[in-house]
Amino acid sequence: MDKIQNTYKVISNEQLCPQFWRLVFDAPQLAKEVRPGQFVHIRTNEQGLEPFFRRPFSVYRVQRYVEIFYEAVGPGTRLLSRKQKGDTLDVLGPLGTPFALPPQGTRQVVMIAGGIGVAPMLILCDVLKNKKYELVLLYGGRTRGHVYPMKEFKDNGVKVHVATDDGSLGHKGRVSGLFDKIALDPQTTFIYTCGPHAMMGAVQEFAARHRLPGQAACEEIMACALGACLGCSILTKNGYKTVCYNGPAFDLDEVVFH
Ligand SMILES: Cc1cc2nc3c(=O)[nH]c(=O)nc-3n(C[C@H](O)[C@H](O)[C@H](O)COP(=O)(O)OP(=O)(O)OC[C@H]3O[C@@H](n4cnc5c(N)ncnc54)[C@H](O)[C@@H]3O)c2cc1C
Ligand code: FES
Repeated sequence: MDKIQNTYKVISNEQLCPQFWRLVFDAPQLAKEVRPGQFVHIRTNEQGLEPFFRRPFSVYRVQRYVEIFYEAVGPGTRLLSRKQKGDTLDVLGPLGTPFALPPQGTRQVVMIAGGIGVAPMLILCDVLKNKKYELVLLYGGRTRGHVYPMKEFKDNGVKVHVATDDGSLGHKGRVSGLFDKIALDPQTTFIYTCGPHAMMGAVQEFAARHRLPGQAACEEIMACALGACLGCSILTKNGYKTVCYNGPAFDLDEVVFH
């Protein structure tokens, strides 16, 4: 599908827990075409110039409508959280390179997400759930207040393991404390990861040690989101690449995490 910019109707916008919101909008063509790992670029202000740039959000789920899952961290996302049923939403998308699907022979798919990095994983589960993989989610959040969406994964048959920094839910400590749930077989295990660079760096190191293949969904602050301004470039083993056009999904071993 070509990237299209359109105005859609907001179906709902609910606060799921102290940290996270889910916004649902009616965009039939986008719903049909979007692939796991792709994102949309949303204009968050109705009028005026602030915030000047659109804001990027992974597509969280596509059922009848398109869903995004977000954390209100600054002016753009706070404006978004004020949207109500029946309001309009100016959206550009679908954008970016989607996740590659697991290679033949894969038996265990492990998703490793930190915080809002869980956003591209549910649409991925929806696509993978009928393909006989063992689906595992290792999720790291700061507190139990950051752990809402897990039920949606469990309903999809995903084995969910949670770590929180403060130990208020699940394993106490970093998500790397859950790496013992990963089957260490490069022929049959495939990893997807999204979250802070430090976390994805730890995943990359672990995967390299055990020769496990995978994909990483990267995030960078964006302006055009069309591959034109180069503002979202990141260093990879093959030179600088843009997150918005070459990514967000990259081979896990390609990205240079600082
Ligand atoms: C491809 C992609 C997909 C994304 N998907 C989601 C998603 O599904 N849900 C979600 O909540 N957020 C997602 N983000 C991040 C989201 O775009 C930012 O949180 C949002 O732009 C912040 O806008 P703001 O105006 O509210 O805050 P700002 O004032 O713009 O930012 C608040 C703080 O967050 C930092 N920040 C902003 N964007 C990023 C970024 N991309 N990476 C690291 N730090 C950043 C800023 O430096 C600042 O410190 C995604 C980003 C990208 C690039
Ligand atoms: S945001 Fe302009 S090139 Fe990616």
